[in-house]
Amino acid sequence: MNLAAIEHPRNRQAELGQFLTAPPVADFMASMFGPLPRTVRLLDAGAGAGSLTAAFVSRLCVGNMGVRAIEATLYELDPHILDELSETMQECQRRCAEAGIRFTFTIHSADFIQEMSARLADDLFGPQPPAFDAAIANPPYRKISTDSAERRALRSVGVETSNLYTGFIALIQRLMVPGGQLVGITPRSFCNGPYFRPFREDFLNHLELRRLHVFESRQAAFRDASVLQENIIFHAVKGRNQPREIVISSSSGEHGDITAATVFPFVEVVHPRDAEKFIHIPSTASHATAKATMDGLSSSLASLGVTVSTGRVVDFRLKNALRKAPERGTVPLLYPCHFNGGTVHWPKLEARKPNAILDNAETRPWLVPSGVYLLTKRFTSKEERRRLVACLFDPDQVKAAWVGFENHLNYFHANGNGLERSLAVGLYAFLNSTVVDQYFRRFSGHTQVNATDLRTLTYPDRETLQVMGRDMKALALSQDGIDQLVTKHLHAHR
Ligand SMILES: C[S@@+](CC[C@H](N)C(=O)[O-])C[C@H]1O[C@@H](n2cnc3c(N)ncnc32)[C@H](O)[C@@H]1O
Repeated sequence: MNLAAIEHPRNRQAELGQFLTAPPVADFMASMFGPLPRTVRLLDAGAGAGSLTAAFVSRLCVGNMGVRAIEATLYELDPHILDELSETMQECQRRCAEAGIRFTFTIHSADFIQEMSARLADDLFGPQPPAFDAAIANPPYRKISTDSAERRALRSVGVETSNLYTGFIALIQRLMVPGGQLVGITPRSFCNGPYFRPFREDFLNHLELRRLHVFESRQAAFRDASVLQENIIFHAVKGRNQPREIVISSSSGEHGDITAATVFPFVEVVHPRDAEKFIHIPSTASHATAKATMDGLSSSLASLGVTVSTGRVVDFRLKNALRKAPERGTVPLLYPCHFNGGTVHWPKLEARKPNAILDNAETRPWLVPSGVYLLTKRFTSKEERRRLVACLFDPDQVKAAWVGFENHLNYFHANGNGLERSLAVGLYAFLNSTVVDQYFRRFSGHTQVNATDLRTLTYPDRETLQVMGRDMKALALSQDGIDQLVTKHLHAHR
């Protein structure tokens, strides 16, 4: 039972980013540590009720790996959970005493971000910041705005990041001794989100990734069923040389049972030439096949003369220009709700979204000249059949001189204009194929399908796409039909 959730109203729980780790997951995390020094200085930042430290201690008490003393430092901001935390620490002390391990702990009822940023920033003049041999963390997650106190504190130590969890990890990393080990559970969003790029660089420059673990279900890791983030567990060691190989494992999450663990070359996880430093997570055999197929393709979107952009009409900014139904002086406005099995169904008067936008001097900069465009949804979740959902905007079906693409869509275009039809249809088949979907799932850990993600994919060359497009007799092909067609053409042009 999640006591914390009962004691506070939900909004306070959200403010604190308080989602407690389920015991089997905490134990699994504790099992990931490698050999530790005789005296372990352990950090548990955002400790909640202390379940991570308790799991760490339990592991060492059962299979003592030569550890004689544990000095635990715990940070927790929420006063309501401190009694429970303190009880857990006393229990740890009892267990350690029985196992012949000296256990001491200090609970800081303080803001970890503020306190540690200040200590690290004062490094030259004040007392040395603490140093840790091990850290176990399920940090709080919540967006932090550019002018928030947290952002300012983090900035003072050179950390620029937009979420609490990445701020926590960046600070924890700075507090670790060389060779120190960190096991953390966090949202997966940092693996490819464009805003997390500085964090990824900081992370990969100072932490050697040894293992990544993903869950096949989203909620399984937490004691609270409302967690919607996709999570990841990582084991990393403070140091500057990434290993040659990394273990990737996954589990259903329901019982903490591991379903698969595979060793991959590190370069398959972070591609050496990738400026974005995406962290790819190949978790199944089909992901590996998808990687091999995509690696065999050599065209970039730019080399095809194609650009992908986010729909330019931000509806709430142009409220006065929106119309429920088309009328004189308006042009079509397209949302994801207009997607209809490969093509666009427009207008959709029964939908809640507007169908049209005034075409005037104010709106024209946000419109595009009519033409053949390929549209993709910007938000899809892991549970959907496909993460990439592409549909064709055909000017023969929707007649207008100009058209608006709303911000929840990405659109593929040629320098602001429509695409050549067979190329667009070829791209349609390619992006809707299972192979691209599987590849995409390796690196995308959140619900967004960013234009950057689509830009970083490799594509078949122009001719292959055109032939594929011409071979596609109907857009509403079944998934099998699309996959067969795409596979046939990719192999034919090897
Ligand atoms: C995601 S919960 C995890 C709790 C615990 N580690 C676990 O795994 O069960 C994060 C915890 O961090 C605490 N927290 C949030 N902001 C904090 C801050 N700035 N400093 C210290 N603790 C914080 C929350 O109150 C919450 O208990």
